[in-house]
Amino acid sequence: MTKPIQPGDIGHLSAEELLANVRDLKKELNAIILAHYYTLPEIQQAADIVGDSLALARAAEKNTADVIVFAGVYFMAETAKILNPGKLVIMPDADAGCPLADSCPEDEFRAFRAAHPDAIAITYINSTAAVKALSDITCTSSNAEHIISQIPPEQKIIFGPDRNLGAYLMKKTGRDMLIWQGYCYVHDAFAETYMVQALAMHPGSELIAHPECREEVLRHASFVGSTAALLDYTQKSPSRSFIVATEPGIIYEMQLRSPSKLFIPAPKDPGNPRSVCRQMKLNSLDRMYLCMLNRKPEITVDEKLREAALKPIRRMLEMSA
Ligand code: 13P
Ligand code: SF4
Repeated sequence: MTKPIQPGDIGHLSAEELLANVRDLKKELNAIILAHYYTLPEIQQAADIVGDSLALARAAEKNTADVIVFAGVYFMAETAKILNPGKLVIMPDADAGCPLADSCPEDEFRAFRAAHPDAIAITYINSTAAVKALSDITCTSSNAEHIISQIPPEQKIIFGPDRNLGAYLMKKTGRDMLIWQGYCYVHDAFAETYMVQALAMHPGSELIAHPECREEVLRHASFVGSTAALLDYTQKSPSRSFIVATEPGIIYEMQLRSPSKLFIPAPKDPGNPRSVCRQMKLNSLDRMYLCMLNRKPEITVDEKLREAALKPIRRMLEMSA
């Protein structure tokens, strides 16, 4: 067995060299690099596809690569593996988990379902494979409303694990759902007081927000949507300035698409102007190159679990086609 290449072995390479090496190795491996909008700009530059969770799941499903390099968080790479058992799926840092997904342990979710036997479970894609396997349909923030609208009104629904997205969907669809009380620490950190202050400080700016934010924040937003929907909105809106209440990594692509517009990261509090996803930022260019050189960390999913988790993902893709 060849010795794995260590971080010190590539430590002398500049950012430009790393990017060039990643591009060369990508061809050699017949790899595709998928990255979420919350990753660092240099990671987005290296990627073949940058997208929201739904676009990335779709890209993972439909490609001709042998290797998928996933720069996002664990549940995203795991979803790619569930969809592609025959492909090698690697990620720059396997410690890049999603605390929201981890806030819903399998045993507790099983007990929650057992307590409501007449309810179906629609589960946010930000969840572990084990929780997906216990669910009927997965969803993302871009298709959740559309999926719920296809469920007969008399059918009880369990929604998890994000309580803020759940509350937002209840309001939008008029459905009374049983909500798991998890939250994303990045989005839940935004508070109404500072949003009101920011709007007053930047007259003429629009507040746009991800539905993982609290209701007290969403109430002040002129547009609420997934990362891709927010991006799209900033291009279409005639406004010149936006206060962005989501992870600020998205601002890189917003600025690229609308160079003359102003994007202000929504303040977490006066001393901390941004709320950052630490896990997404673990995807660095050197770790990406290293993972491609070593072909690991590799994402694996037990076959029985994979088959069970695939069903609600397929259901989602069919229902949102
Ligand atoms: P999107 O599906 O909107 O990209 O959201 C992913 C996510 O993790 C939000 O915190
Ligand atoms: Fe998870 Fe929140 Fe990070 Fe999205 S922003 S990956 S929900 S911790």
